[in-house]
Amino acid sequence: MIVAAVNSKELWYLTRGSGLMALVLLTASVVLGISQIGRLSGPSMPRFVVAGLHRNVSLLAVVFLGIHIATAVADPFAPISAVDSVVPFVGSYRPVWLGLGALATDLLLALVITSLLRYRVGYRTWRAVHWAAYACWPIALWHGLGTGSDSRVGWVQVIYVLCTAAVLVSLAWRLTTRWSASDVAQRTLAALGVALVTVGLTAWALQGPLRPGWAKRAGTPTNLLGGSSSSSSTSTTPTGG
Ligand code: HEM
Repeated sequence: MIVAAVNSKELWYLTRGSGLMALVLLTASVVLGISQIGRLSGPSMPRFVVAGLHRNVSLLAVVFLGIHIATAVADPFAPISAVDSVVPFVGSYRPVWLGLGALATDLLLALVITSLLRYRVGYRTWRAVHWAAYACWPIALWHGLGTGSDSRVGWVQVIYVLCTAAVLVSLAWRLTTRWSASDVAQRTLAALGVALVTVGLTAWALQGPLRPGWAKRAGTPTNLLGGSSSSSSTSTTPTGG
């Protein structure tokens, strides 16, 4: 296997790179989904092209997620098992923040499987599970900020901000177009929910991973604090300070 041929430092780079790629692709998929395939398409962009783009971007996100999980589990630096990647909050390495990654993974897998089997599971089940997409994205973002070594690195923060802006703009567009009287309460509630999650996540990030000493507070096993592993190689440590 490829993961067996690379060393811990390379695995760590791969985990970080593939995690960021998975988040960016997930963002693109969510934006395409929110924009509603039918409404985004037009004469210059036929519906099947937009639908195909949405599907392929989602599948590519799953491919990068697969690399992300395989490299994180294979890296001997942190004690992360295959079980930790699908069963939330049971691991010993940053259990809460890694658990959010497992939760996002479960939601994403449910989304992809029901989409591939859409005609078998029926429209109502597919639609109900698809609502999970809205939760999967902020949970994945939360996991990335809480678990990642690069949350305090400038260009990585730019990626987080751009991903958040893309989702917020498409949500704002979605919530403000084609109003009908019966929609008002539902959309106001949705807008309030989005505002609350955005403010909450920002406040948490400012107090948590963006401040020094997060590695310890995040639940990194004591023997790994200090970053004295073969993974340590850049201005950031594997535990992210
Ligand atoms: C939809 C699901 C997921 C997404 C989108 C995602 C994305 C990310 C992102 C963006 C980061 C930050 C990378 C950085 O700071 O450079 C990260 C970190 C990390 N993720 Fe995930 N992740 C997901 C699920 C998982 C799962 C299930 C695992 C368990 C194996 C996992 C393990 C890790 C680890 C160990 C790190 C820290 C890497 C480091 O040292 O920086 N992730 N993830």
